[in-house]
Amino acid sequence: MHKHHSALGVATALKPAAPVTLIRPQAAARAARFFAEKFPGRSLYAVKANPSPDLLRTLWDSGITHYDVASIAEVRLVAETLPDAKLCFMHPVKAEEAIAEAYHTHGVRTFSLDTIDELEKILRATCDATDLELCVRLRVSSEHSELSLASKFGVELGETRELLMATRQAADALGICFHVGSQAMSPQAYSDAIERVRAAIVDAAVTVDIIDVGGGFPSVYPGMEPPALEAYFDAIYRGFESLPISYSAELWCEPGRALSAEYSSVIVRVERRRGRELYINDGAYGALFDAAHIGWRFPVALLRHDESEAELTGFSFYGPTCDDMDHMVGPFMLPDDVQAGDYVEIGMLGAYGAAMRTGFNGFTSEAVVEVEDEPMASLYADPVPARRRATVIKLG
Ligand SMILES: Cc1ncc(COP(=O)(O)O)c(C=O)c1O
Repeated sequence: MHKHHSALGVATALKPAAPVTLIRPQAAARAARFFAEKFPGRSLYAVKANPSPDLLRTLWDSGITHYDVASIAEVRLVAETLPDAKLCFMHPVKAEEAIAEAYHTHGVRTFSLDTIDELEKILRATCDATDLELCVRLRVSSEHSELSLASKFGVELGETRELLMATRQAADALGICFHVGSQAMSPQAYSDAIERVRAAIVDAAVTVDIIDVGGGFPSVYPGMEPPALEAYFDAIYRGFESLPISYSAELWCEPGRALSAEYSSVIVRVERRRGRELYINDGAYGALFDAAHIGWRFPVALLRHDESEAELTGFSFYGPTCDDMDHMVGPFMLPDDVQAGDYVEIGMLGAYGAAMRTGFNGFTSEAVVEVEDEPMASLYADPVPARRRATVIKLG
């Protein structure tokens, strides 16, 4: 793949008519090293956030050896891309055929569950295997997170004892896992969830071998500037250390967003301006699903050689399809003189952005270019290069 120095360089050299995904392997590698070195346990990458094989190889090369997969397609993808990786099948509701293939063909031994029915299904599919690591998923609050994951999965407190005891009987190693919701804005989310774990362990009086605190670690976006990740790791470690679990118990986490958000951004072209509305060539059915459907604001930068002196103004975006819903409210802050023909970089799309692209209405783009400059925001960069300082959101 041809490498460019910067997003501006790509826009200038290629003048692309379709959106271009920019990848920054060095940013993903830095995030992976951060987790591998500083998280006080094992970090599993949650593949759903961005299943790009290039990204998977970058994370592997930077110390991430375990992968949280949620579908048989993700199992196959990671098994093929990283044959020595350890796969953990952490979707609590799986097809029996998927469990059987994962266990018998791909060597998966770790599965999550939140019902007795799923436990029985796992045992059937694996022919009553005796080498299983089974993680019971507890339902915990998403109150500190921007995206809730509190309603779909997780066993309720009243049913936890029976499930933990039954799973203990069947498992070689028993784990407890949870997910505090995505983009957790406070370490308190994990401290509270670990208290819920404590209550469950005391109530069921079982020996627990794995505590998996899930994903939810934040990235940085306009209007969402979380505390440093070390504060999350400290809160988790303190909670873990105080749990009544076996001496040799392991601590795991499953970051998706925090490992992949900085990996990619997208260059779009403005096709039309109507007042404060810009018609761009990517949108709700492309890499901007979250911007359209949950009003997420991503950082933006106008890519012009001579920096605009115009005042920053809030714009909304329309995507390229014929659909009214292809609308991103923003506001996205750009110089007031932005016009048709301009290129704009939309940052922090490595998590749940590039991965959500569809071909609806004939608008899609496979173009990917590697760049060497810094992502538009970072939880890991220090110091921020001068050229991008205006658009970079940095922790103090
Ligand atoms: C089981 C599980 N683990 C990890 C993740 C990754 O979450 P995040 O991207 O918020 O870190 C998810 C996301 O949905 C998930 O469902």
